[in-house]
Formats: sequence, C-alpha cells, structure tokens
Amino acid sequence: MVIPAHVAIILDGNGRWAKKRGLPRSYGHIKGCANLETIVDDSLEIGIRYLTVYAFSTENWKRSRDEVEGLMKLFRLYLKKCVKICEHNKIRMRVIGDTSVFDADIQEAIRVLEESSKDYDAMFFQIALNYGSRDEIVRGMRRMAEDAANGRIRPDEITEETIDGYLDTAGLPDPDLLIRTSGELRLSNFLMWQLAYSEFYFTDVPWPDFDKAELMKAIEGYNNRERRYGGVKEG
Ligand code: FPP
Repeated sequence: MVIPAHVAIILDGNGRWAKKRGLPRSYGHIKGCANLETIVDDSLEIGIRYLTVYAFSTENWKRSRDEVEGLMKLFRLYLKKCVKICEHNKIRMRVIGDTSVFDADIQEAIRVLEESSKDYDAMFFQIALNYGSRDEIVRGMRRMAEDAANGRIRPDEITEETIDGYLDTAGLPDPDLLIRTSGELRLSNFLMWQLAYSEFYFTDVPWPDFDKAELMKAIEGYNNRERRYGGVKEG
C-alpha cells in the first residue's frame, strides 16, 4: 500500500457529535482535540510525512462568544502540550494562518512551539488557525507586490513556484490526499491553491469518531484511485 506523503484533514463534526449525545458543543471540541492527538500518533506510525489539519477558519470567529472562547482555551492548552509531544516524537510543527490576531500569549505559545521543534523531522505537522485560503493568498500577494515595488522580484520572473513561496505552506509539498469528516462536500476555503491535484476523500464519520481504521480506509481509497489512474496526475 502506498502511503500518501502529505495528508490534509478538515476536522468537522465536533458540534454535531456532541449534540447527538445531548452534550454541549464545547465538549465535542474537547473530544475532537483528544482525537487529534491520537491521529497524530497514528499518522506517525503509518509513515505519513506531512499532516496538515484545519482547526479554526477565518469564518469561525462568527460562532458564539462562548464557543470561540472555549476553542481559544483549548488552543492554549494544546499548543503547550504539543511542545512535549513534538519533543518526544521528534515532530516539527508549524501553525499556518494569520496568527497576528490571537491574544499575545497564544502567539507566544506558537512561537515557542515552532522554535523548539524546528530541528525535528520525524513528521511535519501543520495546524491551520485563523486560516482561510483567500486570506493566505491576499497576504502572500501583498508581500510579493511589495517585493516587486522594491525591485526584489520582476513580474516576468513570477512562476508557480514563486507563488508557492509566498504562501503559509512555503517549503511543504502539496497534499496528496484531502480528508473531510462529517458529511459536508465542501472545501471551505482550505488550501485551495495547494489542493489543485489532490485526491479528495469524504466520510460521514464525525471528527471525534474518526480513528486509525477510518484513516486507513481513506488511504485505501487513495490507493484504489492511484491504481485506476496509474498515479498519473491529470493536468
Ligand atoms: C468543526 O466542528 C471543528 C472546529 C471548528 C474546531 C476544530 C477543533 C478541534 C478539532 C479541536 C481543537 C484543535 C486544536 C488544534 C486544539 P464543528 O463545530 O463545525 O462541528 P459541526 O459542523 O458539527 O457543528
């Protein structure tokens, strides 16, 4: 079985998982966070080299104040915990998205995590926080325009690779496989440039229930398609 080098996951369905059990949405996020820890372990064991997850979008600020505060609390705890997880497993972590809007302590936790894990390479784990693909492209293109205005780059030198280099994912290979849990068939502004050639896998399983067996099912689906199309990427 071919293990995709880069797997991207839209973590969806925490709220519905909780509602079905008569529990508050915030409890769904706590379960979702615990599941993320498990899936990181599983991904490492399976041999996935790059894992990128969508945890908080630029749209998610519109949720209730309680829910957003609960998520921030969870991010604070999790980012700190990740320092130890990365050290133990030799994982390098990066946060993608516009992190400049987060409280200072969250920004500091991100800085510490990225700095402390920068020499590890057992797996590359990216979390998207306050991320939106269009926002990422706007931020990147502003920087590119500044470089052009300052004479650091000439318009006729701009290639796809140049644009890659201005995105938050600079230096990472494009995802081979995108997974979205919990039944929605949308991209929701996630990695639109980077997913141009990726295989998509959608499942009805909500994120808190998405376990290693489900991950293997997604990888099997990816393998079946690779066989069918001979691994040739269509242009
Ligand atoms: C989508 O479920 C999930 C989110 C908006 C948050 C994702 C967060 C986690 C998995 C936990 C925290 C992660 C980190 C990195 C600490 P939903 O609320 O949209 O579910 P619904 O569609 O059923 O309402």
